[in-house]
Amino acid sequence: MIPLNDLARSVDYSTLREITGRVVSSGMFIGGKELETFERAFAGFCQAQSCIGVANGTDAIEIVLRALGIKTGDRVVCAANAGGYSATAIVACGAVPIFADIERVSLALDTDSTRQAIQENRPQAVILTHLYGKLAAHTDELVALCQELSIPLIEDCAQAHGANRSGKFAGTFGTAGTFSFYPTKNLGALGDAGAIVTDNAHLAGIAREIRQYGWRSRYYSVRPGRNSRMDEIQAAVLNARLPGLEERNELRREVARIYIDGLSGSPELPRFDVSSSDYVAHLFVIESEHRAALKVFLQQSGVQSEIHYPVPDYNQEWYRSLIGSQSAEDLPVTEWACRSVLSLPCFPELSHKETDHIIQAVRNFYEKKPTFAK
Ligand SMILES: Cc1ncc(COP(=O)(O)O)c(C=O)c1O
Repeated sequence: MIPLNDLARSVDYSTLREITGRVVSSGMFIGGKELETFERAFAGFCQAQSCIGVANGTDAIEIVLRALGIKTGDRVVCAANAGGYSATAIVACGAVPIFADIERVSLALDTDSTRQAIQENRPQAVILTHLYGKLAAHTDELVALCQELSIPLIEDCAQAHGANRSGKFAGTFGTAGTFSFYPTKNLGALGDAGAIVTDNAHLAGIAREIRQYGWRSRYYSVRPGRNSRMDEIQAAVLNARLPGLEERNELRREVARIYIDGLSGSPELPRFDVSSSDYVAHLFVIESEHRAALKVFLQQSGVQSEIHYPVPDYNQEWYRSLIGSQSAEDLPVTEWACRSVLSLPCFPELSHKETDHIIQAVRNFYEKKPTFAK
């Protein structure tokens, strides 16, 4: 079976042994030099003024929201097709997610729908998720809209490490950017880790306090906080992997190019340019009216695939119990995306033999050829 992802292929054992040995012998497991080094390096990589390491990508969103003063009863606009991470963070602050529809190119927030959601709900923030590794098609318009209305825009860049447009990196278009370093991400740790980047020094200072009990200095707390720290082993792994990120993004893009060439003529291709630097090929996603049958056919042909994501947030059980008998939103492009997207294996170590097999399997499905196992 060709897996959707295979993290074991990416592990450099001697580097990891060296890293763990170094951190263990330093006697400093949390809050040491590795984190400091990573925060500096990642801020530099994104070309942001500050980076704050935290425990995971969902906490990164929640901490930014809290640092912006989002509280119980506030409203935050986000997309509903992006895995529920934004909604989870919004609800953790006691706020309410307001879902706007997405556009058809990058499947990220649509400007007109966002404008309408803002006019109708007067939210305190907007979260823009750059999905699948592609910078959202309407990023500039959304930034301008939020600036005009003085609403902070948070970019969720958990799938977009290194994506840039003319050298401007994901995470630096809005008020702050949030990242996950979950192991399957383009920059992945050996466990959970996340970060916030921002040019706003005041916001960065508050986020730093919130991530550790609201402390301004040890044991002196100035605001309600929590514990959301990135440990030294994760920071050290990220320090070792960050220099290779761009090369690995290029290898991912190469996989995407092979798919595009191999599937040319098929209606199931992404609608955006996969060779551009604003796409870092976190996922390679096709859209199919026959998704369920295609997924089964691929499985029978020895190819694992996955749906990112099958259920709009507003149709999740927990959200329905939050809003009671009210009807959930109906956002046509979101509904269509959740019905049709399918991710094919896409990771730097995928071999040509494997991509050829996957392309042939997709082609066979449409040409109604019998399945074959790998
Ligand atoms: C778009 C997006 N946002 C946020 C997250 C949450 O990150 P984490 O799992 O580190 O909390 C993820 C990761 O799974 C993600 O893909």
